[in-house]
Amino acid sequence: MRSTAALRRLVSETTLRPRQLILPMFVAEGADQPRPIASMPGVVQHTRDSLRKAAVEAVGAGVGGLMLFGIPAHRDATGSGGIDENGILNVALRDLRSELGDSTVLMADTCLDEFTDHGHCGVLDDSGAVDNDATLELYAEMAVAQAEAGAHLVGPSGMMDGQVGVIRRALDEAGHTGTGILAYSAKYASAFYGPFREAVDSQLKGDRKTYQQDPGNAREALREIELDVEEGADAIMIKPALSYLDILRQAADASPVPVAAYNISGEYAMVEAAAANGWLERERTILEVLISIRRAGADMILTYWATEAAAWLD
Ligand code: PBG
Repeated sequence: MRSTAALRRLVSETTLRPRQLILPMFVAEGADQPRPIASMPGVVQHTRDSLRKAAVEAVGAGVGGLMLFGIPAHRDATGSGGIDENGILNVALRDLRSELGDSTVLMADTCLDEFTDHGHCGVLDDSGAVDNDATLELYAEMAVAQAEAGAHLVGPSGMMDGQVGVIRRALDEAGHTGTGILAYSAKYASAFYGPFREAVDSQLKGDRKTYQQDPGNAREALREIELDVEEGADAIMIKPALSYLDILRQAADASPVPVAAYNISGEYAMVEAAAANGWLERERTILEVLISIRRAGADMILTYWATEAAAWLD
C-alpha cells in the first residue's frame, strides 16, 4: 500500500490544510521598521503597518486565523498597557479588524506578561508571589478591551485558576456574548519558550512554575481542560506541542470542544537552526512536525510557519 504516490494518497489518514493553521504575530509599539528576532529567524516584531501587510498575506494564503501579541514601549507593575484601549495590542487589533473584517479569525493573547515590568503573567502580592485572584479582575478587563477592539476569540494564557469563568462572565456582562474563548488549558512550564521571551522583550527573572504545569504531569492537564470547559471555554489548547503529543492525544480523545496545539518558539528555533546548518531538510521537517501534531489530535495548530506552510499545501 506504499508502492506508489497514488496508493499512499489513497490510504493517508491525516489531513493538513491551511485553514487548520493559526499564525502568531508580534507587534511592537513605536517600531518604525520590523525588528528581527534573532532566536526566531524569519519572525519579526512588526510595526502597525507591516503587521497589516503580513496579516493580509497570511489570510490570502488561506490560514485559519491570527493570534496577536503586543510589545509595549512602557511597562508597569499591573500591566496596564494590556487593558488600555490605546495600548499597542488593542490598537493593532482594531487595525486588523478594520482591514480584515470577518474574513479571518482574530485572536489575542489575554495575558499580562508582555505588559508587566516584572514579566509575570499576573500581578504580585507583597511577598512577590503571583496573586491569582487579583489577576483575574485584570484579565476580565483585558478580555473586554480586546473584544471591543475586534478580537473574535480571546486567548487567556496565564494559567490562573478560574480565568475562563471570570472572562466569560465579564464578556457577557459587557454585551460581548459572541466573543469566544480559546483557553490555554494545559500549558507547561517549558524551557522551549526561550525564544518567545526574546520576541516579546520579556522582563521575567525566575520562572513560572507556580502557575504553569510540571512537565512530568499528565493527569492535571485533563483536569485543567475539564475545568476550562465547565467555565465556558469554546476551544482548548495544549502547549507546547512536540514534547506533549501524548497530552494532546488524551485531550483530543476527551475534549468536547475543538483542540488547538501551539507549536512554540523553541520548536521553531530548533528546526530553523538545524536547517540553517544543513542538518535537516527544512520543508520536509516542517511538514512532518505539523502533520505529527495533527495526527496526535490537534484540530488547529498555532505555528510561526503558518503562512509559508499554507502556501506549500495550497
Ligand atoms: C504568555 C505566553 C508565552 C507564550 C505564549 N503566550 C510565554 C510564556 O508563558 O512564558 C510562548 C509562545 C512561544 O514560545 O512560542 N503570554
